[in-house]
Amino acid sequence: MVKRIGRKQLLFFVWIAGVSYLLPLFGNATEDESPFAVAALSAAAPSEHLLGWIDSRKAQSLNGSWKILVDPMQVGTPGSLFGGWATTRVPENDYQLLEYSYPSAADIRVPGDFNTQVDELLFYRDMVWYQRFFDVEIVPDKRYHLWFGATNFEATVFLNGSAIVQQKGGYVPFSVDVTEHVKADQNDLVISVNNRLNAETIPTGRTDWWPYGGLTRDVLLIETSEAYITNAQLAQAETAGRINGHVRTFGMPEGTPVTIEIPGAAAKHIATVDGDSMAHFSFDAEINPWSPEAPVLYDVHVSAGEDLISDRIGFRTIETQGMRILLNGQPIRLKGISTHEEPIGRDGVAYSYQDMMTLFTEAKALGANFIRAAHYPYSRHAARVADELGLLLWEEIPIYWNIAFENPDTLGIARDQLSRLIQRDWNRASVIVWSVANETVYSKPRMLFLERLITDARELDGTRLISAALLGDTRRELQFVTAHLAAYGLTSDVPSAREKKVFEKVLESVGEQAPVVGSGFDLVITDPLGELVDLVSYNEYFGWYYSRFIADQTGVSERTIRKLMLAFIPEIRISSAFDKPIVISEFGAGAKAGNRGAGVWTEDYQANVYRAQVKMIANSEAIQGITPWILKDFRAMLRSLGGVQDYRNRKGLIDENGRRKKAFYVLRDFYEGPWSGVAPN
Ligand code: GCU
Repeated sequence: MVKRIGRKQLLFFVWIAGVSYLLPLFGNATEDESPFAVAALSAAAPSEHLLGWIDSRKAQSLNGSWKILVDPMQVGTPGSLFGGWATTRVPENDYQLLEYSYPSAADIRVPGDFNTQVDELLFYRDMVWYQRFFDVEIVPDKRYHLWFGATNFEATVFLNGSAIVQQKGGYVPFSVDVTEHVKADQNDLVISVNNRLNAETIPTGRTDWWPYGGLTRDVLLIETSEAYITNAQLAQAETAGRINGHVRTFGMPEGTPVTIEIPGAAAKHIATVDGDSMAHFSFDAEINPWSPEAPVLYDVHVSAGEDLISDRIGFRTIETQGMRILLNGQPIRLKGISTHEEPIGRDGVAYSYQDMMTLFTEAKALGANFIRAAHYPYSRHAARVADELGLLLWEEIPIYWNIAFENPDTLGIARDQLSRLIQRDWNRASVIVWSVANETVYSKPRMLFLERLITDARELDGTRLISAALLGDTRRELQFVTAHLAAYGLTSDVPSAREKKVFEKVLESVGEQAPVVGSGFDLVITDPLGELVDLVSYNEYFGWYYSRFIADQTGVSERTIRKLMLAFIPEIRISSAFDKPIVISEFGAGAKAGNRGAGVWTEDYQANVYRAQVKMIANSEAIQGITPWILKDFRAMLRSLGGVQDYRNRKGLIDENGRRKKAFYVLRDFYEGPWSGVAPN
């Protein structure tokens, strides 16, 4: 029986329904009832076979002016009470309530980080939404791929209202086939991206560099034939004049011929697609090897079916032999410098070919032949520029400091990031090192995590060296250094009588192990990770941090310790427990450009640390490479000292505007003088 409901009851029910709908906003609704409950997006994970050789493909740039909405409470996520911001909507009449609008949103440049383009976002570490429209001249029997140079650090891509793909982990490219989603006009492309980082992400939430967020690299729409070449790797075999490699294809039947051509080397070879959509090859070619002195690049063409891709590739070999590094079979010294991916003279992230050309040209002016591109993968332009300038390159993923080594999701992000970096740059002759970690403290989970990454790297690309910036047992080392410094101090007129008493106590506490003055100090690298890498790389801050630690421990003034340390550093002998080349991957000191005097933060003190460090290095047979920290001052949230740092790390040899400090010339003189030749045999 249907019971008529009076008007009053009806209004009461409508009111209850309305309130119960809004209640969760204020009440403590359970998670799944909350109107902010986020719909689990069913976007597919990106394919692990990277679409490579990007710069030779038919591509429509989607760089330029986009719209941006800031969303610190993630109300734009589909399924939230506010309806989500995954498509562009405009009110159809005066009664339609919308609480977001892309057409009236602010403009932002892509590529580039959002932190330095929007004043309020400088320190922002959360979600933003990007939107733009684009048209496509759709050609039948072609496929269309959205390609992103990087999205920092987690992104979801929506096209014409559909969730297309999610990518976790920044700094590396990904692409997705959108052939079924694109239309000729007004494609509505929306991307949510956040630069949140935490204990489980890669990198973690605490980094000594700026967590630049957003669409930080190029965005392209790439057109391929129905069946196409996904990627290809070529490398010079151990024997000169022999090229090995493989081509990965998509949609090509087994038996399809694949032609690899290097006209400048009188080489043309035909391989065949196998049952795994791969074509493996090995053929002779008249190659002049690539080197910093002669960065020879060859035009290489790979064709199969209707597809043709091209690249400019250099060929060389890199290997280690005991304590030596051999480039094209000859011993070489890595006269390096570390960098971050920031341009000279402009705020924010570097993203263009020109940005990298300017930055790496300054490294060449230093007399460097090697760059440690710390601490994460740079844009594809970096290795391209290094190939052209003749700079050897160390590329790295941000397994930095205290990583959640026991978290499988964290390992998944790290493996994905390393795999994409290698698949993107495996044809770059300049790249000689893949680095899998920086200053990670020893533990069993850390060893398992890094061992997995090292295995991945060797399986993906056996032609390059593996390294990681190791961390010593600093506490133990500092105890030894303190004892040596104490012995040194007793023969010096720098310490006061009181301070000499302290040094005597230190030596008494060390007992029979008390060092003999002038005997030098042997620092032996024993990190077990040294067993798994090809280059034993080591960060040390003698002359900077260690002086403060020792002053704090002993109560001797930092002034005395710093003065003694500068005299003591040349007596340090660094070696390792492994018969492998050693690279000092970091040393340095901070200085604000223009500051003069004897104390910290002056150019003079920074130059004195470099003078002491290069003396130590010149005395060492074991050190085959150095990448001092760092070419250019860079933004860092850890570095707040007003008037000096102002949220920049000041260890650069140049400041953010390219102003060279005195230490720049100390290192340049070292590279052009004592370290100008190659390593002795
Ligand atoms: C660490 C770390 C760098 C950091 C540097 C510094 O070793 O690897 O990322 O910027 O030291 O303290 O300046």
